[in-house]
Amino acid sequence: MCGIVGAVAPRNVVPILLEGLQRLEYRGYDSAGLVVVNNSRLERVRSIGRVAELTARSAKTSGHLGIAHTRWATHGAPSERNAHPHISSDLIAVAHNGIIENYEELRAQLTAQGYVFTSDTDTEVIAHLIHSHYARGNSLLAATQAALAELVGAYAIGVVAADNPDQLIGARKGSPLLLGVGGGEHFIASDVSALLQVTKNMVYLEEGDVVEASLHGYRIFDAKGQAAQRPVHVSELTNDSVELGEYRHYMQKEIHEQPQALADTLEAVCNSQSLVPGIFGAAAAAAFAQVDSILILACGTSHHAGLVARYWLEEIAGIPCNVEIASEYRYRVSVANPKTLVVTISQSGETADTMAALSHAKEIGHEHTLSICNVPESALVRLSKLRMLTRAGPEIGVASTKAFTTQLAALFLLTIVLAKQRGRLSKEAEQQHLHDLRHLPSAAQAVLKLEPEIAKLAEHFADKQHALFLGRGLHYPIALEGALKLKEISYIHAEAYPAGELKHGPLALVDSDMPVIAIAPNDALLEKLKSNLQEVRARGGELYVFADAGTRFHSSDGVHLMQMPEHAGYLSPILHTIPLQLLAYYVALQKGTDVDKPRNLAKSVTVE
Ligand code: M6R
Repeated sequence: MCGIVGAVAPRNVVPILLEGLQRLEYRGYDSAGLVVVNNSRLERVRSIGRVAELTARSAKTSGHLGIAHTRWATHGAPSERNAHPHISSDLIAVAHNGIIENYEELRAQLTAQGYVFTSDTDTEVIAHLIHSHYARGNSLLAATQAALAELVGAYAIGVVAADNPDQLIGARKGSPLLLGVGGGEHFIASDVSALLQVTKNMVYLEEGDVVEASLHGYRIFDAKGQAAQRPVHVSELTNDSVELGEYRHYMQKEIHEQPQALADTLEAVCNSQSLVPGIFGAAAAAAFAQVDSILILACGTSHHAGLVARYWLEEIAGIPCNVEIASEYRYRVSVANPKTLVVTISQSGETADTMAALSHAKEIGHEHTLSICNVPESALVRLSKLRMLTRAGPEIGVASTKAFTTQLAALFLLTIVLAKQRGRLSKEAEQQHLHDLRHLPSAAQAVLKLEPEIAKLAEHFADKQHALFLGRGLHYPIALEGALKLKEISYIHAEAYPAGELKHGPLALVDSDMPVIAIAPNDALLEKLKSNLQEVRARGGELYVFADAGTRFHSSDGVHLMQMPEHAGYLSPILHTIPLQLLAYYVALQKGTDVDKPRNLAKSVTVE
């Protein structure tokens, strides 16, 4: 995951920036860089590899104002030219986390204005855009605000200008950024752990905030450009702890990290016009050319990700796909097809059943193996020929959240790559999918705004013993995932069904004590789902409907509507997961359970 650190101080900030980057190393990265302002010049040092390499290269660099960044590329070789910060006209430097969705359009406009691009990143667009406003006589703050108004997407940025040696600008929308307040010095970072070395006083910027910091103070402006006050939190963390920041639980924090985790996982999409098999490993193109079917093996939440992927793979890529629970597959007598691609999915990469299932698949003759995993160099990843790492960062809450949505993002990339390889995807369709993926982090951010409403809704569940989750098609696995989240952390018995199955049995359970949660996207099955929900209402069942734009649901007696902002087409399951995670979280708070460490469960299930 990418990380940002920035500092303005009466001392040399280079050691602060480097220490901050080191503290962010746990997120994973493959290149790093920093810029300081020195004698009205920008001095930039970048390197691929470890922060230690950047430190060695920065021995002669110093300055009182600077920004630094760690970047984890997923597409092509990580290179120095793509490492941040990016510079425009030797005057403006920018470090950025996130995805700018309209960067191609902006790049074309800026190129027409004479800007020359020296990297393949979307970030460079931001640097040139700020410069274009700065060159017209705007202050650095105003130029940044004007540039941000032109960006579509998710970002956290740090900005400095060569001729402004006392001004550090930070901004966030969809990616986290906080301000550290020291005595006569100020800092920005994407994560509190980067700043504990210099201060414990943290200001968590809100969505759309821009901060202008100097030696003497700081000002914060909200999304509308109005001056805003934000509280200063005194962190209780030590330099060595994994930070919770402003959140009560890791699960809540990890739910909120999803826009950034998705942006990190999708970085390949952001910087490319087209997807290539190479994102799954050097041998992927040759392997994919030989496969005629997919077998997905996983457990728990990761298995649910596989169930969603089956819909995508069969419909978009036209490739037959089976999904099996790893603990069943490993003991089942099955027939191997050497042309099958075996895909294992795991957050931890050390789930015993998933590893055993993969070993079994190999033993019975499967040759092509791919792991989608959140932990680099984990045992599972080492067991597979091909790999794709999700970039969710450490997941500490036992209930898997950001690992799931990033697994889905990775599986969608797999779908597009296979669809292309099999001649099932027009150039236009590929561009549309890439566009939708770029938009995903900011769409996820918009869904998170439902949190206060969901917290209120959760009060209805405080005295419930059972709950039923319904979905259809692509969203049936999301119903399964919603039910798993609820039972796992609130201990309410929850079951999920494809809504069309209701009348074949579960309808007998429905009465006014049985909350029925419906996942209701505006897709081809909406009208069918509506009929199923009528069956529930007719039996006095209480409905909780998570609908998105255009579904024409209305709250009424016995129908509680949660209106999602937009419908995301094929990517809708990713967005519809988020409110269900929040629902489980707030119901667990109502119940007073140990959210991050629910009874009887472990984060990594390394035993059979
Ligand atoms: O690390 P893995 O993804 O292989 O773990 C698989 C399951 O144990 C895991 O997803 C479990 O179901 C979660 N606790 C669900 O929230």
